[in-house]
Amino acid sequence: MAEKKLMQAYVYGRSVGGVVGLKHVEIPVPSPSKGEVLIKLEATSLNPSDYKAYMLRVFLRPFLARNFPLIPATDVAGEVVEVGYGVKNFKLGDKVVAILSLLVGGGLSEYGIAKECLTVSRPSQVSPAEAAGLPMAGITAHIALTQVAHLELDKTGPQKNILITAASGGVGHYAVQLAKLGNAHVTVTCGARNLNLVKNLGADEVLDYKTSEGAILKSPSGKKYDAVIHCGPPIAWSVFEPNLSEDGMVIDLTPGPSSMWTFFVKKITFSKKKLLPLIWYPKGSNNQTLEYLVELVKEGKLKTISDSKCPISEAGEAWGKIIDGHATGKVIIEH
Ligand SMILES: NC(=O)c1ccc[n+]([C@@H]2O[C@H](COP(=O)([O-])OP(=O)(O)OC[C@H]3O[C@@H](n4cnc5c(N)ncnc54)[C@H](OP(=O)(O)O)[C@@H]3O)[C@@H](O)[C@H]2O)c1
Repeated sequence: MAEKKLMQAYVYGRSVGGVVGLKHVEIPVPSPSKGEVLIKLEATSLNPSDYKAYMLRVFLRPFLARNFPLIPATDVAGEVVEVGYGVKNFKLGDKVVAILSLLVGGGLSEYGIAKECLTVSRPSQVSPAEAAGLPMAGITAHIALTQVAHLELDKTGPQKNILITAASGGVGHYAVQLAKLGNAHVTVTCGARNLNLVKNLGADEVLDYKTSEGAILKSPSGKKYDAVIHCGPPIAWSVFEPNLSEDGMVIDLTPGPSSMWTFFVKKITFSKKKLLPLIWYPKGSNNQTLEYLVELVKEGKLKTISDSKCPISEAGEAWGKIIDGHATGKVIIEH
């Protein structure tokens, strides 16, 4: 029997987390099953959720049949090199951007397997790095703004005052740009070093989160927020509440026990001001959103800001930046 081709990969074993737990290995290139494509990766972007997925798997270890090793990272761009049975929309040589399975991963290797329904074409005008930044962060920003805050991204509809916290991060920097495609006045929080960057992305007002005004989220022009896209570390409801409009909402992308409690209390008391936890899991219907985001990049209406780009041999350093939580835009691996 012919030996399977091997590929370079960075994997997590059973017990050690952090950067030190990520080990370089050579393993067989995987084969696509029904409805899947094998992609030779050109770029991968990292997300905090990649590390959270690892920790979730440590927690679920006793209950999962196939658990470790795990190759982290889900957001990739590359070329289709093999198609599984039944794949209709892609053929060998197609350039694509895709979301790999959160629990299986595959982005920190040379090849990844994606479902056809979570794969879209990448036009030549969009580089692999720009495309790989989009899936998790871009789709989350889009869902929060359009499906939860009900902002129309074509400037129709009433003006909304929006606050985006941690606007210098992966989700936040896309959220600022998408919000400005709609009829929105955008206030943001970020660190001092990124104030100009976020203004250049379109933010109308900026708050340095380390100042006293930033810590209380107070709009410099006295606006009350119709929606807060909360991408930063936890903030107490008592800080959000006075800054919200009469029926303003906080869309919490990093919900912990305290925000789940606030969500519950606001719901059962029919409060006009709300906190809505947002946790999404990639599904086929996200393809249209990903296509839309790729098209925006192609048209020059959306940019992927990269914190850093490095080869896969420096995956450990890149991974460390994600765990630290201080990246500006997206951390990209170029294969
Ligand atoms: N719910 C979902 O479905 C979903 C989906 C995607 C992401 N998420 C979550 O959303 C969060 C944001 O994701 P991300 O990819 O944008 O993260 P990220 O790129 O790691 O965010 C890093 C940025 O956050 C800034 N920051 C850190 N602390 C801050 C603070 N207190 N106030 C303002 N800015 C602060 C940092 O600026 P400095 O370096 O200046 O501190 C840095 O630029 C993560 O927790 C992620 O897991 C959730």
